[in-house]
Amino acid sequence: MLTLGINKPKLSDETFYLLRDIVYKRSGTFFPENKKYLLETRLARRLELKDLKTFEDYYYFLAYDAERERELQALCNSVVTNETSFFRDGPQLEAFRKGVVSKVIEEKSRASDRSIRVWSAACSTGEEPLTISMMLHEEGVLTRGWNVDILGSDISDGVLRAAAAGVYDKYSLRNTPEEYIRKYFTGSGETYTINSRARSLVRYKKINLVDANETRMVRGMDIVFCRNVLIYFDDASKKKAIGHLYDSMEKGGYLLVGFSESLHSITRLFRPVSVERSVVYKKI
Ligand SMILES: C[S@@+](CC[C@H](N)C(=O)[O-])C[C@H]1O[C@@H](n2cnc3c(N)ncnc32)[C@H](O)[C@@H]1O
Repeated sequence: MLTLGINKPKLSDETFYLLRDIVYKRSGTFFPENKKYLLETRLARRLELKDLKTFEDYYYFLAYDAERERELQALCNSVVTNETSFFRDGPQLEAFRKGVVSKVIEEKSRASDRSIRVWSAACSTGEEPLTISMMLHEEGVLTRGWNVDILGSDISDGVLRAAAAGVYDKYSLRNTPEEYIRKYFTGSGETYTINSRARSLVRYKKINLVDANETRMVRGMDIVFCRNVLIYFDDASKKKAIGHLYDSMEKGGYLLVGFSESLHSITRLFRPVSVERSVVYKKI
């Protein structure tokens, strides 16, 4: 049993560098030396499931085993941070609802285009794209005759399976206003299911943001949310991901990154714009 301290496998520095390199190349997530314990903890479960005794054995499995592709996906699923919730970062969502949506509607009306495409680019278990869907419903965008398409994507197929199921615990809804719960969810107590009205605008797809081939299929986005994922990347991965997001967007489109994230020093392809006291980025 790996859970017993005496038998716990130890991650040597040498193997840490090899494994973090695999994780980095695959996902863009970078584990600096001071996060070694985190990689060690998150990978210990994989060793246990594969019945491997040491991290060295695990490295060789990833490098040479016939099942390596499947394990690389499982590895990605287990090392990323999936923390999310409905209505995360309220002030920024208000900027989206009150400012960004009306700007996009105004600009697209001029071009007689009545479709809005939104991409939630690292959506975890779906709370973010579903929040966007509910907000667009509340803004009356659909009743005014606009077509809305929301793409939720993530590198991890595990979280996307949960997103597709659409079942959430009470904790995920901790910031959700009561009237939204009544209108868009069924259930009570500990478990809630998103209803088809909110769900029907959202489609899910597995897309790795640092992979040019996977992001190439996404084009023509008016608004992109890429929140709370760039913090796990180093500058090279950030630049790669932001370049891919840029290519996926319409000229004049808006990019919203996380509260603690910034494009400063990463790219000059976007212009920071202040909307309702939040900063969003406009593709120029
Ligand atoms: C902390 S969650 C953020 C979820 C949501 N955007 C939010 O702000 O609440 C980060 C998500 O990024 C995903 N992720 C990590 N690396 C990725 C990559 N290279 N491509 C796409 N998604 C990635 C993880 O699987 C995880 O679900």
